[in-house]
Amino acid sequence: MKLIIINGPNLNLLGKREPEIYGSATFEDYFAELQLQYSEIQLYYYQSNIEGEIINKLHEVGFDFDGIILNAAAYTHTSVGIGDAVKAITTSVIEVHISNVHAREDFRHTSFIAPNAKGVIAGFGLQSYELAIQSFLI
Ligand code: DQA
Repeated sequence: MKLIIINGPNLNLLGKREPEIYGSATFEDYFAELQLQYSEIQLYYYQSNIEGEIINKLHEVGFDFDGIILNAAAYTHTSVGIGDAVKAITTSVIEVHISNVHAREDFRHTSFIAPNAKGVIAGFGLQSYELAIQSFLI
């Protein structure tokens, strides 16, 4: 099974960025743990702060991977382009958020991804990613 985690803008700063919301672990450390824990899966990771690069990655993996775990971060709430890319590809996408976006500002309640996602997982810290992996295993 081939899965990819795609992280959007500012998520390269995990560990340093607003730790009271996003925790103090770096994503690289967490990803290394996931790879060990799910060694039977080919698990890939991609991060970009650039909308078009995220769209390009979705096009690249979106027809032959078994699943995409997408935290588009702020682009979740703004990007028609990423939403259209999720609709255009055939691989299932799970939208993931570290924080519970529905308990935060109103602008975070809108998602251009959710209408075309297989599901949405939000609010479980970094564990949101693991729950998404598990959803592809059941
Ligand atoms: C986030 C929530 C978004 O609203 C925010 O812009 C992020 C991170 C999360 O994982 O909780 O950058 O996607």
